[in-house]
Amino acid sequence: MTIKDIQEKKIKGEKITMLTAHDCPSASLIDEAGIDIILVGDSLANVALGLESTKDVGMEEMLHHAKAVRRGAKSAFIVGDMPYNSYQTDTQKAVDNARRFIEEAGCDAVKLEWFDQCLEVAEKIVQAGIPAMGHVGLTPQTAQEFKVQGKDADSAKAIITNAKALQGCGCFSIVLECMPAKIAQILTEELSIPTIGIGAGVHCDGQVLVTHDVLGLVSRFKPKFVKQYVNLNDSILAGLKQYRQEVVSGQFPDEQHSYTIHSDELEKLRSNIENVQ
Ligand code: KIV
Repeated sequence: MTIKDIQEKKIKGEKITMLTAHDCPSASLIDEAGIDIILVGDSLANVALGLESTKDVGMEEMLHHAKAVRRGAKSAFIVGDMPYNSYQTDTQKAVDNARRFIEEAGCDAVKLEWFDQCLEVAEKIVQAGIPAMGHVGLTPQTAQEFKVQGKDADSAKAIITNAKALQGCGCFSIVLECMPAKIAQILTEELSIPTIGIGAGVHCDGQVLVTHDVLGLVSRFKPKFVKQYVNLNDSILAGLKQYRQEVVSGQFPDEQHSYTIHSDELEKLRSNIENVQ
């Protein structure tokens, strides 16, 4: 999957699929399922590291997990999510950190959330030859409150202006998070780059969700836009409880899961056992 493939999907009206991954086995399954884009999201903080906020994850953790995702994914396009503080304070540091996602972790692009000076940062990253994906609407790294964005004409206009500016900076695609479907529809029509929605309705060019939410793999607050497709929590818990019960009762390991030794060898050992130090 390349940027050209992703952008052609918008032109042809084919939906783009994107999911998060933070480790090799999940990246490999997502890849096998034919998902177009894997986001090594900063949701790593909440869903895998047990941290309170996405702000709590840093460059080293993101790179560590991005490398594992790269090992698992053969075809999907991989986007590294720039963590809080890795691109907000210093433009050169932002470019250097974006380059680390590409050169050290093998990502194909980086994603950056909207903040006041993000245009300068996005422009410099793109000028350095690093593909960048924008992110507008609800931007969890700097949000004061987690609520639907663009519910009135003025705030919706601001989102559209910001998204167009990110497109102008050379972003190849943009995430639209938590906004009315009609606003995301206008954005999708107004922008020439693909829009990937999360809580932004059906009219976006593509959709993204956090894989742990899709698979029912964490018990955490689920916003209205999350659809859980399976409940792995229940299956995993049932498996773990059965394992515990079988070990405690001596039912596991049985013969099928144990190794044997020839009886002659065993006899030889037994007759010499007193000589074994
Ligand atoms: O980190 C994340 O999971 C995200 C979302 C857009 C899915 O940024």
